[in-house]
Amino acid sequence: MSDPKSLLVIDGNEVDVRPGETILHAARRIGIDIPTLCHDDRLDPAAACRLCLVEVEGARLMQPACATRTSSNMVVRTAGGRVERNRRFILSLHLADTIQERAVCEDNGPSRLHEMAELHGTAGVWPAIESERAARPDDDNPYVAFRPDRCIACSLCTRYCDQVEAVSAITMAARGARTTVSTADRLALTDTTCELCGGCIDVCPTGAMSERPALVYGKPEAELEKVRSTCNFCGVGCQVDLNVDRAANHVVKVTSPPPGTTVNDGNLCVKGRFANDFIHHEDRLTTPLIRAEDGSLQPASWEEALARTVEGLARVKSEHGADALAFISSSRCTVEENYLIQKMARAAYGTHNVHQCAAT
Ligand code: SF4
Ligand code: SF4
Ligand code: FES
Repeated sequence: MSDPKSLLVIDGNEVDVRPGETILHAARRIGIDIPTLCHDDRLDPAAACRLCLVEVEGARLMQPACATRTSSNMVVRTAGGRVERNRRFILSLHLADTIQERAVCEDNGPSRLHEMAELHGTAGVWPAIESERAARPDDDNPYVAFRPDRCIACSLCTRYCDQVEAVSAITMAARGARTTVSTADRLALTDTTCELCGGCIDVCPTGAMSERPALVYGKPEAELEKVRSTCNFCGVGCQVDLNVDRAANHVVKVTSPPPGTTVNDGNLCVKGRFANDFIHHEDRLTTPLIRAEDGSLQPASWEEALARTVEGLARVKSEHGADALAFISSSRCTVEENYLIQKMARAAYGTHNVHQCAAT
């Protein structure tokens, strides 16, 4: 039997109170979706956007569901005239302070702000507020572009940088209409503690933080096909989405699957997110090369290359013994591939000379 004192009521439904839980999470638990813009389960709430305001009986003002803890006997209303009027008002306010045309706003990634506005409606199209937010025009880092006219000061990017990446390279600066995203002394990101993880791009709900190479390529994410893959830069196994321009057979950028869906929880490192230009680089080897009689490297089929390898290994073993051979594997290979390399070294060639970079 649950203790009636430890219950709250959300839209007429009784919910048990869990220590420290917010109204947003308690509502989600019973299938009620409260719209949010500045919330991310990985971050402490900032209650910056005010989209999630709900009515709490006895409170004079509406309360942010993302930042208000539940308590016994609380009575919450997440729908109805006042709540829905506030959502439309807030969305109009934010839209007036950013790029109003969805297609322009989504020239890089999706805009959660526009998605919410379409879902919940607005209180009307309000005249654009001229943004006074300062940019950082001298920031010539190659990956992260900050476009202040699109920023709604939700602080998702700075909280992510602080609480997930733990480097605090960017911060909210100034006050009022001048509130902007900045760095210490407005330095370029590459002159700060920034690790170029690109997480600030990923969490931004308006496209104010965008990916430079993808902007130069010029095709919005909505026109690209996502192909799920596993990052091969290290052995962690982060899941990535390759964003592919099918018509040009080109990987335009790499994004993380949403938080909470894969092992990397929406995060990527600089290599996983940005080090993908090798895919289409003209120097990339796309076929095996075999050394010819004259010492030059010549293209060959995989069958020819593997036959030459087997022949060479067998020759060294017969002329110098098995311990003249050594096998080196890589932490970029899967566990299974590493297992097979040591199996081949020991079982097929009879040597324990096998090593892998992660072992050092
Ligand atoms: S790229 Fe990563 S480390 Fe750099 S500012 Fe953005 S979130 Fe912070
Ligand atoms: S750049 Fe994007 S994530 Fe950062 S405060 Fe502005 S709108 Fe929010
Ligand atoms: S999501 Fe609660 S105030 Fe932004």
